[in-house]
Amino acid sequence: MNSVFTDENDIQGMREAGRLASEVLDHVAPFVQPGISTGELDRICHTYMRDVQKTIPAPLNYQPPGYPPFPASICTSVNDVICHGIPGDKILKSGDVVNLDITVITPAGYFGDTSRMFMVGEPSVLAKRLTQITFECMWLGIAQVKPGARLGDIGHVIQTHAEKAGYSIVREYCGHGIGKVFHQDPQILHYGRPGTGETLEAGMTFTIEPMINAGKRDIRTMPDQWTVKTKDRSLSAQWEHTLLVTHKGVEVLTWSEGSNPPPECVAGLHFRPSA
Ligand code: MF3
Ligand code: CO
Ligand code: CO
Repeated sequence: MNSVFTDENDIQGMREAGRLASEVLDHVAPFVQPGISTGELDRICHTYMRDVQKTIPAPLNYQPPGYPPFPASICTSVNDVICHGIPGDKILKSGDVVNLDITVITPAGYFGDTSRMFMVGEPSVLAKRLTQITFECMWLGIAQVKPGARLGDIGHVIQTHAEKAGYSIVREYCGHGIGKVFHQDPQILHYGRPGTGETLEAGMTFTIEPMINAGKRDIRTMPDQWTVKTKDRSLSAQWEHTLLVTHKGVEVLTWSEGSNPPPECVAGLHFRPSA
């Protein structure tokens, strides 16, 4: 089912969920340094969600059909890990890039889902460029969001920008509707043709979360059944926001003080509620 929120209480609930998810990233950001383990980052986030926010980490024990329960509170995807990396003993070193993906459930029952890339120590030229292009892809997608736009419009701008840079789009995973459940329709593909797919309407809430590989698009899933890596071991990057379609255009729900400001390529885009 496809949720469209028309009640202002629901919208406020989604705003709170989005802000809280983003604030977990603000909180953990200073700890992403050479020498820390991904398991420690998980613990820092878990403690903050439970004790400070009173939110529930949606990934913990999440079990879609055909999967074992996810064993941690956040996803930590390092270097050639595309998504769903399981936090553990892995120690981050200078030159690594890591995506931290946070989904909270608020006491009122709303989900907020967001991820950012972090560079550990000194990043390579490739890591910086891949991370920046992926960030631009997400924002170019966000800039398409308004009532009457089609889902294919979003996928098309993302695919075009990534492929122009020589990168490839992962096809097996996509953005998703989100609200009082974690994953729901519609699927938000990060590739496609303009003027195709479902038409957006005010009140829809969904994520845009492109996964982009420096090499080929092919994936391989690890024996833990969660961790997804690039088949060719090339670097992969991802950014994610949860969005609301408004009457005027788009609102980025997963926004907080520490959010990375939008790139030049979407200069002038209005994406926060006006006073
Ligand atoms: N947060 C991921 C997403 O963006 C989903 C993670 S599911 C988990 O949709 F179980 F791996 F946490
Ligand atoms: Co998501
Ligand atoms: Co996510």
